[in-house]
Amino acid sequence: MNPLAQPDIRIDSYLGEGQERSLAQDAREGLSRPFKELPPKHFYDARGAELFDQICDLPEYYPTRTERAILHDTARELAQLTGAVELVELGSGTAAKTRVLLDAMSELGQLVRYVPVDVTEGMVRDCAQELTSEYPGLQVHGVVGDFERHLSQVPAPRGPRLVVFLGGTIGNFPPADRATFLREISNLLGPGDHLLMGTDLVKDPAVLEAAYDDSQGVTAEFNRNLLHVLNRELDADFDPEDFEHVARFDRHNEWIEMRLRSRRHHTVTVRALELPVHFREGEEMRTEISAKFTRQRVSDDLAGAGLSLVRWLTDPDEQFALTLSTPAG
Ligand code: SAH
Ligand code: AVI
Repeated sequence: MNPLAQPDIRIDSYLGEGQERSLAQDAREGLSRPFKELPPKHFYDARGAELFDQICDLPEYYPTRTERAILHDTARELAQLTGAVELVELGSGTAAKTRVLLDAMSELGQLVRYVPVDVTEGMVRDCAQELTSEYPGLQVHGVVGDFERHLSQVPAPRGPRLVVFLGGTIGNFPPADRATFLREISNLLGPGDHLLMGTDLVKDPAVLEAAYDDSQGVTAEFNRNLLHVLNRELDADFDPEDFEHVARFDRHNEWIEMRLRSRRHHTVTVRALELPVHFREGEEMRTEISAKFTRQRVSDDLAGAGLSLVRWLTDPDEQFALTLSTPAG
């Protein structure tokens, strides 16, 4: 069935050409620098989204199950405390954990609308279909877009709003961009609205590195998927087998860095950009940072965006935290 024909589903898409331009621009800039780098948002084509889903179930990747457990323990309190009737989710993915919150809002009879925002169109469409059948009467207004460019397209609120940004995705922003982005999120909130944000916490580097370099090699495939995206979208000729997956904890910056290390000296051509890209043997290209936080860091970052901390929710081992915040009065 065409989802657009259902009265309780609306999907607005802001991608298409703009997104291709964004990949082209990021590739031109990032592959021309002495230290090559590509932003992680380009991991998530359909295959990348599928691989991310597999990562979430890996024994080494504790963030997903830990965040889900915290949500289970606190969802009812969060729904009551915020009185939210709508949930806006940034980087919604399959909305697997979101259902815990939607259940609590629904049981309290306050659930009206869900607004998923994600760059992967198929996931927004599928989750709109699934959620409207799981929660009768729920309206879903999906925004297919880049949350760094399209937050202004989030529809006007229908009542008390809860914005959720789960999974620790805030850690994938470099610090300067993170501050700008938190300020933009804060602009989605009126007085009495709330933000619920997941952050992974600083811990033993061995635990962190295992989470990003799993024994089954799923994260390595996720990392190399970026090269498949470049081949398909920009007619590049990367051989993903020429690159090795690297995941290392940077103690100074307190973040995991994922990189792709060239196994040999070679040249790749990004034909759509007429761009030859030379790699030395052993040269590394950064594909993701995943920052790890302390309570102080999170509350400072929120304060910098005009938000004050309402609740700090964590698991018994303090592996992961959810923070509820609201515009400072
Ligand atoms: N919230 C889910 C998914 C996290 S994975 C969870 O907690 O498990 C990160 C999600 O953010 C993916 O679904 C990806 O498609 C989306 N994403 C990454 N960068 C994005 C961007 N710039 N704009 C919109 N969505 C983005
Ligand atoms: C989406 N994001 C929070 C994940 C993370 O942990 O930084 C992406 C990921 N990269 C490798 N594994 C998972």
